Amino acid sequence: MGKEIRNEEIVLVEDRTIVSKTNPKGIIEYTNDYFEEVCGYSKEELLGKAHNIIRHPDMPKIIFKVLWDELKKGNDVRVVVKNLAKDGRYYWVITNFFTVYDDKGNITGYYARRKAVPKHVKVIIEDLYQKLLIIESEAGMEVAGEYLKNYLNNYKTDLQGFVEYLFGQDKELIEKYLKQEVSDEDILAFEKSLNFKKNKK
Ligand SMILES: Cc1cc2nc3c(=O)[nH]c(=O)nc-3n(C[C@H](O)[C@H](O)[C@H](O)COP(=O)(O)O)c2cc1C
Repeated sequence: MGKEIRNEEIVLVEDRTIVSKTNPKGIIEYTNDYFEEVCGYSKEELLGKAHNIIRHPDMPKIIFKVLWDELKKGNDVRVVVKNLAKDGRYYWVITNFFTVYDDKGNITGYYARRKAVPKHVKVIIEDLYQKLLIIESEAGMEVAGEYLKNYLNNYKTDLQGFVEYLFGQDKELIEKYLKQEVSDEDILAFEKSLNFKKNKK
């Protein structure tokens, strides 16, 4: 807290992927180089810390509640997140979350892959998040949750489906961003050592 917030965006390289892995409690256990490069924290500063070290105050609480509720149900989740860099700047990412299991099927942690967010998606999500934030500050997270549910009902979908809908305005984008097929050798090698289900779609 008390960190300076700057209204300045960090522009991400489109084909690079920001990766992290946490233990079941959300404590960071791994970050790739691009994660550090973008957020400005070193591995020493990140490893062992709670993942909210890069939480941006513009993010509504309800979005993280939905994220954790889904992860705990064993579902993979896809969320658009605004993150806070060490120097107070921000960056938007589309994040795919996966659950990592041991051989016996116990949850050993979570894994997240992030990519840049196209502008048209950012505009719509930012508007929704701003509304949720205002509702949270005036009426609390539960009321914000109701608002979110009604909002998504208009599209007859859930948060995940809504993100897909937004990206789906452009067929190529949906391929590129939602599947998040990564080509980075280091990431692939790391993922090989993990046990996680790919998103159903
Ligand atoms: C694998 C994984 C990656 C996460 N990545 C982020 C992230 O990039 N930014 C973020 O704000 N929260 C991320 N979270 C969620 C945080 O754990 C936390 O719930 C969130 O920052 C809200 O903080 P709070 O619960 O202290 O309010 C991640 C969680 C997991 C399990």
